Amino acid sequence: MSMSPLIPLIERAAAALRDSQRLVVFTGAGVSKESGIPTFRDALEGLWAKYDPQQLATPEAFRQNPKLVWDWYTFRRGLLAGAEPNPGHYALAQFEDRLPQVVVITQNIDGFHQLVGSSDVIELHGNLARNKCFANCQGEPTLVNVDKLAWDKESGPPKCPYCNTAYVRPDVVWYHEMLPEAALKRAIQLSTVADVMLVVGTSGIVYPANQLPVFAKRNGATVIDVNPDVSQISGFADIFIPGPSGEILPQILAAMDADASSGEDV
Ligand code: OAD
Repeated sequence: MSMSPLIPLIERAAAALRDSQRLVVFTGAGVSKESGIPTFRDALEGLWAKYDPQQLATPEAFRQNPKLVWDWYTFRRGLLAGAEPNPGHYALAQFEDRLPQVVVITQNIDGFHQLVGSSDVIELHGNLARNKCFANCQGEPTLVNVDKLAWDKESGPPKCPYCNTAYVRPDVVWYHEMLPEAALKRAIQLSTVADVMLVVGTSGIVYPANQLPVFAKRNGATVIDVNPDVSQISGFADIFIPGPSGEILPQILAAMDADASSGEDV
């Protein structure tokens, strides 16, 4: 792979990024794949290949079987506890040292972007580390720290300590639920005025998040898509780089630095 055919694409992406004044990075499960966290739609290993989202990731499912849903998230928290951010996350955080404005909009709930130093991260789908009252009894969201609660962990989720009525649930967005309003609003606004949008590791299938690259493109942004497979974004992206983000993003960063030190780009 030393004489990679991807090099011209990486150079083009680096040139666009180096000049960016308002960069939006938009990430999905693929950016954490090299950390060992399964994506959703991988045909064999993806979570949705093995589990039915309708039975695990909807409010109806939680109402029907809170213990099943809670246990599934406990399982996913376990996966996360054994995982670490990868070179792709680190490279994205380093863009901030080089560019005036970098905002990361993520569909991921693993918190890895923040962990490695990305300072402005919009979480569209919540965060696995947080929990809230299913009824949001004290307002949206009523966060609950379960580490402070004592309950029989074998029996499923604890009751909310504020209302003592509703169960505690993970603070993530499920199917049939709205995205957090302020986060979505800001994400749309930033995508609309971005000059470059770097899309990483998303199938681009899930609405409304998948509209963000469309807004960016429509408003003249250069859209770059990094994904080993063709996604819904690749087709209209200005630059599609087919490769894993843990390898491609550090190469883009290196190419940006090389460009900068050699002055003119060709
Ligand atoms: P998907 O599982 O739909 O897509 C993951 C994408 O990552 C695919 O396009 C893969 O080709 C790509 N990919 C795989 N390995 C990669 C690598 N090493 N580097 C870069 N890309 C790689 O995941 P999302 O698009 O994030 O929603 O899914 C969107 C939403 O659907 C999720 O946020 C989740 C799910 O249901 C909620 O939970 C609300």
